[in-house]
Amino acid sequence: MKVGVVKEIKNNESRVGLTPAGVFELVKNNHTVLVESKAGEGSGFLDEDYLGAGAVLLPKAEDVYAISDMIIKVKEPIAQEYGLIKEDQIVFTYFHFASSDALTQAMIDSKAVCIAYETVQDADGTLPLLTPMSEVAGRMAIQQGAKYLEKPIKGKGILLGGVPGVPPGKVLVLGAGVVGIQAAKMAAGLGAHVTILDINMKRLRYVNDVMPSHVVTEFSSEYNIRRHIKNHDLIIGAVLVTGGKAPRLITKDMLKDMHPGTVLVDVAVDQGGCFETTRPTTHEDPTYIIDDVVHYCVTNMPGAVPYTSTLALTNVTLPYVLKIANLGWEKACELNPDLNKGLSIVKGKVVYEAIS
Ligand SMILES: NC(=O)c1ccc[n+]([C@@H]2O[C@H](COP(=O)([O-])OP(=O)(O)OC[C@H]3O[C@@H](n4cnc5c(N)ncnc54)[C@H](O)[C@@H]3O)[C@@H](O)[C@H]2O)c1
Repeated sequence: MKVGVVKEIKNNESRVGLTPAGVFELVKNNHTVLVESKAGEGSGFLDEDYLGAGAVLLPKAEDVYAISDMIIKVKEPIAQEYGLIKEDQIVFTYFHFASSDALTQAMIDSKAVCIAYETVQDADGTLPLLTPMSEVAGRMAIQQGAKYLEKPIKGKGILLGGVPGVPPGKVLVLGAGVVGIQAAKMAAGLGAHVTILDINMKRLRYVNDVMPSHVVTEFSSEYNIRRHIKNHDLIIGAVLVTGGKAPRLITKDMLKDMHPGTVLVDVAVDQGGCFETTRPTTHEDPTYIIDDVVHYCVTNMPGAVPYTSTLALTNVTLPYVLKIANLGWEKACELNPDLNKGLSIVKGKVVYEAIS
């Protein structure tokens, strides 16, 4: 198969869909890999790294789209890419069709085979191609939160880990899923006092088993949230209701109960956010302040750390890329029910019920 890799052109996106290690594996399996020049630069992979792994470099994205049987990307195609996608071409990437009519229509019109990372699903219901990005975002949430707690950027002026003779900061994590557990782990590692809430007792039992004793679990309820926001310095929103909008756990009237300079990081912003005052922000302008409370609500947090995120993503996508390349998409999907769930739009037909 001819496998194509293009440079992401969406604003502020520096990840790349395939690393030189991925190229090496595909070439070893007798495939040809066509890489747009500079595609990996933002993630630290130079053209010579791809050449060394056996790729063919092409100067323009147009050339890659024109020749490739399968395109490996990270983000959904944007308008200027729509026309480059050919009939029968496989496009394997994050699509998030539900959020864009224009993209959905363009992919129907292209008659391409669209396989979406975000709906590939294991038998136990987990989403293996979303997990690594949640891991990145969860860990980043503490790094960002710790920074915005500093006084010059309008935070409370607290060092999360404290120092000898001074108690550490307090972190409240709402949701003990992938994001929440990674956030709790980072905060605990810094020495902060952590409270983590969830409505799923299985998750809380797991956290209680694996985390140190300064990570305290509690059942999530409005009563408990109202109680904790009064004395926590950094609050992380990490809840998810599968397929639905995030529940609003902190309402605007609750901000007045927080100390000025408290920092809210709403990782769940991409599902509408779990704070009433959440509005999506970007890495250029990540925060805003309401009632003296700092809000950080960046929708694509992993985009800020492309070196880490590209490796984390391609670790999990490469096995699927190899299956599709070696078997063809039809056989690969037939033999792998998890991959089959990723099939979204096939040759002009929407085949994923939720999207249709
Ligand atoms: N902003 C970003 O860049 C970014 C990156 C990755 C993930 N995310 C988002 O982060 C969110 C969390 O993702 P995840 O992978 O951790 O999901 P997950 O399914 O692993 O965990 C979500 C947890 O929320 C819990 N929950 C549901 N309702 C709750 C409530 N009322 N109170 C407390 N807990 C509740 C669930 O029981 C579950 O344990 C999602 O919205 C995801 O899309 C955002």
